[in-house]
Amino acid sequence: MPLHNAKFSAFGSHAPAKIVNNYDLEKIVETSDEWIRTRTGMFERHYCTPEEAASDIATIAATNAIEASRVKYKDIDLIITGTVTGDHPFPSTACIIQKKLGLKSIPAFDISAGCTGFVYALDMAKNYVENGTAQNVLVVGVDILTKITNWTDRNTCVLFGDGAGATVVSRAKRSDVSRIIDSLIYADGSQSELLFQAAGGSRMPASHETVDQNLHTVYMEGNRIFKNAIRSMFASTDELLKRNKLEAADVDWVIPHQANLRIIEGLADKLRVPMSKVIVNIEKFGNTSSATIPLALDEAIRSKKVRRGDIILLTSFGAGLTWGSILARY
Ligand code: UT7
Repeated sequence: MPLHNAKFSAFGSHAPAKIVNNYDLEKIVETSDEWIRTRTGMFERHYCTPEEAASDIATIAATNAIEASRVKYKDIDLIITGTVTGDHPFPSTACIIQKKLGLKSIPAFDISAGCTGFVYALDMAKNYVENGTAQNVLVVGVDILTKITNWTDRNTCVLFGDGAGATVVSRAKRSDVSRIIDSLIYADGSQSELLFQAAGGSRMPASHETVDQNLHTVYMEGNRIFKNAIRSMFASTDELLKRNKLEAADVDWVIPHQANLRIIEGLADKLRVPMSKVIVNIEKFGNTSSATIPLALDEAIRSKKVRRGDIILLTSFGAGLTWGSILARY
């Protein structure tokens, strides 16, 4: 039994100002608005400028989350950031966010779990709060995939956008309705080569050749990922619901990773949840990797769609391969 319950204090998000739509992409690669819309559900995405880095947009999202909560800056005692496009290979982007927020000494680290980064970070934050090690954990999901995009590969370059989302996971009071009920995370490293960035690490350090061959960009076998995505997100949400003796019909809102509208619809169909209970904003943001869930949830909370007391189910899937789900009463 955990010592404490953890809850979501509030959410915040930020997407950069520049917007690129399907017609703009038609000018870059051999593609069409019709193909992108029907195969992915996407229309617009937000892109960072060359000067903007992950910590810049993450700090805005984090500030928005903290300001929306009752938590004081000085009471945040840990920062966990899910990202694969941090400011630098090291130090962690969480440390840079700590500096920008003016938070001294508190531990800060990044988690690399691809698009599942935010869900992985939430799972860890929940554990830190439940065992009493932390009281208020700032959890951030941020990615700037446009900086590692191969602009000659139409299979991937039309999919990605940039964004950041954040939440404060806090110790719940006994009287609180809000609670993170349960979480599950998984990985299957045997399929790591379906989605990865080949160069820039110790396996293949940066060289003129790696740059010439576009090896610092996202490689993805989209088709094989597609099938895995529906299967794994369904498996982890189903397991989570069953072990908490809940039916999918008890869930008020499903907030899935926004990688493809057809994946989202496939998941909803398997869960037997109507699309009216699924939060979708892929049309406006594309796939922002670890930022998709907090961006979608923050928007749904601010528009008063998701309300305090609602049962919410978050689920994601990404490089690793990794996947996982979070069940909570918001
Ligand atoms: O975020 C974490 C993980 N990522 C995902 O979950 C992404 C999962 N995968 C997907 O969303 C889909 O697989 C894609 C959107 C990436 C691709 O859709 P698909 O229905 O699986 O298409 P496909 O890869 O099977 O390609 C079908 C056709 C191909 O043409 P041929 O070989 O049939 O002539 C592609 O060359 O569509 C072509 N195609 C395009 N055509 C126009 C691929 N990309 C494009 C494009 N515009 N941008």
